[in-house]
Amino acid sequence: MAGSASVAKPASGSARAYRRVIAHWRVIVLGLILARAAFYVIHPDEFGLFFDLLSLGLLVIFIAGQIFWIKRIIDVVGRFLTSHMGRTRLTVVAVLIYLFVYAYGYPGIQSTNDHIFRTGYYRPLTVVTEALFWWWFVGSMLAFFLVLVFGAGDYAARAITWTYTKIRDTTRQPASVEISTPASPSRRRFLQQNAILVSATPFVAAGYGLLYERQDVEVVRQRVRLAHLPKGFDGFRIAQLSDIHMGPFTTADYIQRCVAITNGLKPDLIVLTGDYIAWDPSLEREVVRALAGLRAPQGVFGCLGNHEEESSTEDYVASLFAEQGIHILRQQRAPIQLASETVNLMGIDDPRGETEAEAMRDLYRRLHKGLVMPGTVNILLAHEPSVFVFDRAAELGIDLMLAGHTHGGQLALEAVHRGFNISHLLYRYTSGWYENRGAKLYVNRGIGTTGFPIRLGARPEITVFELSRA
Ligand SMILES: [Fe+2]
Repeated sequence: MAGSASVAKPASGSARAYRRVIAHWRVIVLGLILARAAFYVIHPDEFGLFFDLLSLGLLVIFIAGQIFWIKRIIDVVGRFLTSHMGRTRLTVVAVLIYLFVYAYGYPGIQSTNDHIFRTGYYRPLTVVTEALFWWWFVGSMLAFFLVLVFGAGDYAARAITWTYTKIRDTTRQPASVEISTPASPSRRRFLQQNAILVSATPFVAAGYGLLYERQDVEVVRQRVRLAHLPKGFDGFRIAQLSDIHMGPFTTADYIQRCVAITNGLKPDLIVLTGDYIAWDPSLEREVVRALAGLRAPQGVFGCLGNHEEESSTEDYVASLFAEQGIHILRQQRAPIQLASETVNLMGIDDPRGETEAEAMRDLYRRLHKGLVMPGTVNILLAHEPSVFVFDRAAELGIDLMLAGHTHGGQLALEAVHRGFNISHLLYRYTSGWYENRGAKLYVNRGIGTTGFPIRLGARPEITVFELSRA
């Protein structure tokens, strides 16, 4: 209509909400972080202040990473949306989805709410949702780290170039001449394309770790030299399975496959080093049934892990194993005899206590002198490879300690540096061999997973040890 003046349309409710969120997003993010910090104050973690600070640091990186990825996704999808309202709706939907994901799955909240590991939730759709969540969580965190490293590298390269140019030009020309170093568009494009390629890699790797490496079992063969080994035990073979963690991502079929691999190694003795379930106590009977097929001439022995303690199923699972002829050693020893010679096998429950002093007292109660047999080789089964437990084992003169618990970090870059894995943030001994005052410790990576159902650089492991006198 000719001559009519255009009148600005009042903003809709969703547009107003969007603008408010955008205007105050820093306050919202800060609020989330403070809420999390308050949660730690009210429910301090058993690992103490260091673990709380570590979790908070990871949360801050998680939030920063998610904001980064939300912006990237909106940029990419937004190119196909022409209207401003289309972008507005997309942003609101993306933020709501992320808030849901945060509330649903951020580590700590999920285990506090205890809402994903119950048998009733093992519906295919729930398992797929969990898998997708963890794929995104691990992929986006790793990718964000890479983007930060890539960005820092680019920044450092530009700073060095700028400094070099300044020095060169200062020495060649009078100081009064201003030199400008305009950024090259083709270089920027090249860097952006590389950044996209680099940041896509962790998502592919996380998918590989979820779908393949998580159950790509490695048989690790180790020769152990023990100075006081009786002659008859030279060449004696012990297979170790650890951290089974039956749950939505570790099924009976997979465990039975591991049992078949272990039996195929024809060991003389089989040992289990704890953590039979993920979280659901009702799976103890099923996991014992899956492990009941283990066979070795000198028997199958084991110890209990923290997941048995946390689910209060220690007595129950020990009696289930006993029904199947598997001996769980609870502050007990089981001398293994070949003809007239003996090797002493011992097992302890996971030490516990609200404070470090309490845990130490509990450890001394469980791992006492009476377990050790002087004059022969002493082998200890203990789930957690903590410094305290290994120190105490070495102090008692134990020759070999077999442990698990760390899963080798599940995410590791051991090829770059030994111990370069996530569990190293909390534990000194995380996978493979360690020594202390003549005592040897082996930390097995386990066959199951907890937390994220992904393994990258830390394949599930079945170990077979060959004892040797020389
Ligand atoms: Fe454990």
